[in-house]
Amino acid sequence: MIFDLRYPIFQAPTGSVAGPELCSAVTQAGGMGAMGLTWASSDDAVAAVRAVRDATSGLFQANFALAFEPESLSAVLDAGLPVVTFSWGDPTPYVSTVRRSAAKFGVQVTNGLGARRAVDLGADFLVCQGVEAGGHVQANRSLWDILAGVVDAAGNVPVVAAGGIADGGGIARALATGASGAMLGTRFVATVESRAHPEYKARLLESEGQTALTLCFDGGWKQSAQRVLRNSTLETWESCGSPAAGSRPGEGETIGFSASGEAILRYEEVAPRIGFSGDIEAMCLYAGAGVGVIRDLPTAAEAIERLWREAQTQE
Ligand SMILES: Cc1cc2nc3c(=O)[nH]c(=O)nc-3n(C[C@H](O)[C@H](O)[C@H](O)COP(=O)(O)O)c2cc1C
Repeated sequence: MIFDLRYPIFQAPTGSVAGPELCSAVTQAGGMGAMGLTWASSDDAVAAVRAVRDATSGLFQANFALAFEPESLSAVLDAGLPVVTFSWGDPTPYVSTVRRSAAKFGVQVTNGLGARRAVDLGADFLVCQGVEAGGHVQANRSLWDILAGVVDAAGNVPVVAAGGIADGGGIARALATGASGAMLGTRFVATVESRAHPEYKARLLESEGQTALTLCFDGGWKQSAQRVLRNSTLETWESCGSPAAGSRPGEGETIGFSASGEAILRYEEVAPRIGFSGDIEAMCLYAGAGVGVIRDLPTAAEAIERLWREAQTQE
């Protein structure tokens, strides 16, 4: 089994929606938990890593989206982070920092060329992301069109498949295509331990599976497509001809507040978390293309056991 995990099931880093509680729960249950630490201060990132290390002795990953400077990278490696993943950029400048620690590193790729580059850099594993993914989407082709080529280009380096996988059938298909594991984001956003706002979780459960890949939402991360649930903000924007930032209907309007009282503006790319107030439905509700099969709100451990049971009955 990849990295001696009990199950080849990886939680995807889903920004601040996945805190130490969810990450620890996934790792404790035999998968690999994840946190997105791109935007966390070094103090917060180290506290998050320590919280997971205190809760579990298993492997977990922290992700840095390299569209931004990975400011807390050295601090979290010093704090004993066991696995780091890089997405959205060239990890070359950071490899020596990682190799000074005992951490393994993974690189998100979207085609065979990216896979070969990551292997040449010495990556311990690759994450193959398809366009079905929820959140910010680096890929532009279906997971199922690129996975076999990425596995081939990766040679002996294990590949973990991500994007639109939300049930055991998807995991079995990824393994049958040569992946060593599957990475699920939206499925774990809809669990008891995730920090997603209850209304966001409810909307994932109610969804008929319709998502949009759009540039509607932004903030600090410009011109990067996101896959989201269709909501009132997106539909109003589309009905006005999808105008560019600066001319969007209701732009700059406060639609709610974070738990610490910061205003959330319409079109902000912040997913609503526990403690947010206001018009939650109008906020950025990230979701992968597999959302239609998510119908309940299990604990992370229940989700993993069921996913693996389902995957085995498909093989
Ligand atoms: C709420 C949410 C936030 C995400 N934030 C990030 C992020 O900060 N960095 C990143 O590389 N990917 C991010 N992603 C993408 C995931 O890492 C992963 O590729 C995706 O969730 C897989 O697709 P799925 O959601 O259909 O399982 C996010 C996804 C979601 C749903």
